[in-house]
Amino acid sequence: MDVKLDPWSAVSIDDYSKLFDEFGIRPFDEVYSQIEDPHRYMRRKVIFGHRSYDQITDAMVNKKPFSVMSGFMPTGKLHLGHKMVMEEIIWHQQQGADAFVGIADREAHSVRNISWDKCYDIGVNEYIISLIALGFEPDGHIYFQSNSDQVKDLAFELGAKANFSELSAIYGFTGETSVSHMLSAVTQSADILHPQLGEYDGPKPTVVPAGADQDPHIRLTRGLGHKMNMFKIEGREDKKGNSYFSIRSKAAPEGALKEMSERILGRTKLFEGHVDVFDADNFDVLLNTVRQVELEFGGYAFVPPSSTYHRFMSGLQGGKMSSSVPESYIALTEDPKGAAKKVKRAKTGGRTTLEEQKKLGGEPENCSVYEMLLFHLVEDDEELAQIYNECRQGERVCGNCKVLAAERTEKFLKEHQELRELAKDRLDEYGL
Ligand code: TRP
Ligand code: SF4
Repeated sequence: MDVKLDPWSAVSIDDYSKLFDEFGIRPFDEVYSQIEDPHRYMRRKVIFGHRSYDQITDAMVNKKPFSVMSGFMPTGKLHLGHKMVMEEIIWHQQQGADAFVGIADREAHSVRNISWDKCYDIGVNEYIISLIALGFEPDGHIYFQSNSDQVKDLAFELGAKANFSELSAIYGFTGETSVSHMLSAVTQSADILHPQLGEYDGPKPTVVPAGADQDPHIRLTRGLGHKMNMFKIEGREDKKGNSYFSIRSKAAPEGALKEMSERILGRTKLFEGHVDVFDADNFDVLLNTVRQVELEFGGYAFVPPSSTYHRFMSGLQGGKMSSSVPESYIALTEDPKGAAKKVKRAKTGGRTTLEEQKKLGGEPENCSVYEMLLFHLVEDDEELAQIYNECRQGERVCGNCKVLAAERTEKFLKEHQELRELAKDRLDEYGL
């Protein structure tokens, strides 16, 4: 029998290839080899794409400062999809990132009409307690948007660079959209950029782990980061074909360019509105000087944020996982026994009869039970590869996978809920 033995093929990225071509998301493969001890999602191609993640691998390899950041809207139950983002944040924190988690209560309040009390309750009791139980360390930062003057002030500043047409192209805003809803869009950009404020030691790469559908927010934020900066550096060529850099001022205050021309190592020439730099052999040094001068003249010098994109889990019944269909997902606070039952009822990639299953093998790429194993329940790659191969070769029946997945789900939830009890007593370590 000709079987394709690729245990990760359940994670087909074909559906996502359009993202590479049309939107400029890069394949994660190209940075993978730089990562010393890659996360399960990286090894299994669950994380399939990125934007400027090379800045992050550079920081990890060379022990430079970097941040990881994401936000959660406190609207309801925390499920396995949210857990993925939390694990990615915690993994980067363990690799040395300064970690930030924002509870997007301004967004939940303005977009979903959830009261402030409810936002707080869900934010702490669903999201934050599980985040801590999953291993988020207290040297990271957990905050509510409504409680962060830094984020709110930065949102206002960013709002000056975002106009209605741009936002409506991304978010589908219309004449009916409330002003607060629009404000919550730039608040999300402020969430992402605020780890680079002076309070947190200034500009640095920041990675936002997200689902692929979040890319428009990332693009908006990268654009706003650029627009906020005083300078841009362009590579140019003179008439003889020699390349040089031109540092262009975008409304930088008076004196900033002159300071720049004096500070930069190498030959420079000061013009109205720009400084040209010849024979600068080290771009990183040049970039650092530009950022330094910008900071001294009161600018932000934001580094455009990086991102990773993971593929989604499907719902347990096939189709999409949806918060409005409890049978489609598993919440981290639900009854472990009930969750095990859901797993046992889940849709598999098995054939209609045992005979067919033996003859044709199952279809793990179409199996929500296999997805549970791949995304959450089997850490050991070899164990997973074995399950995959047995399935494809018709040597495995779905009942076995269901029992395994159900047992592990129940065990994971029981343990997680015990850890949550401990986390409840530790909130003060996180300034909450
Ligand atoms: N808008 C996101 C959501 O709908 C939540 C969010 C707020 C967020 N701020 C963020 C996500 C910053 C990533 C980064 O869930
Ligand atoms: Fe899915 Fe396991 Fe059945 Fe294969 S044997 S289709 S992996 S449940």
